Amino acid sequence: MPRWYSICWSKRIRPVFASKGSWLKGRLQCWPVVVAALAFASGCSNDKSDTASTETRPVLTAATLGEQRMLTRDEYLSASPYSDADAARGERLAAQCRACHTLNAGGATMIGPNLYGFFGQRAGASDDRFAYSQALAEADFIWTPRALDAWLAEPARFLPGNRMSYAGLRDEDDRNDLIAWLLAEVSNDPGE
Ligand code: HEC
Repeated sequence: MPRWYSICWSKRIRPVFASKGSWLKGRLQCWPVVVAALAFASGCSNDKSDTASTETRPVLTAATLGEQRMLTRDEYLSASPYSDADAARGERLAAQCRACHTLNAGGATMIGPNLYGFFGQRAGASDDRFAYSQALAEADFIWTPRALDAWLAEPARFLPGNRMSYAGLRDEDDRNDLIAWLLAEVSNDPGE
């Protein structure tokens, strides 16, 4: 046991009739404990300010997408973040989408529209058999991977009033893996 620790401990339990001088000396020997506690406390408060700054990052919505440009499927798949994504994992995540969407060419309309070939299409226009909500039918953007990423992160916030009752994929790696797989398998861009 380190000397400073044993001194702190013995002074704490020392009987009250200890002389004033030695009481103070005993307390002063405790300074390493105080320094460690302060260092720990300041470390904690730094962590908190980091978290706060990421929380205040602006959220991308349909209204703030700005000018859009759709690249080819291969251009997306050969650049970060999709070139590093795990498409096999993305396919497993797509099971969540299949609860409401078919993904194959000519697939049925279910709770949600068929999604084959939706990349590069205007919102609310991929499946003309589907009765889109007014919010999606009137939305003025195209489905780029960037728009899809923001939609999947938080559907209700990206386009208020839409009817996709899906909580979203909060994890960025999950979205990257899923979008990489969708680009490869659900895009009607034949690539090279
Ligand atoms: C609970 C059912 C449900 C789930 C799960 C779901 N969706 Fe949807 N999705 C919908 C509905 C309903 C709409 C149409 C919303 C509207 O009209 O406002 C929609 C619309 C969409 C659109 C817009 C299509 C267009 O033509 O504009 C995309 C893209 C989309 N979903 C992708 C996904 C992906 C990717 C997943 C999986 C991560 C997913 N959805 C999971 C029900 C669902």
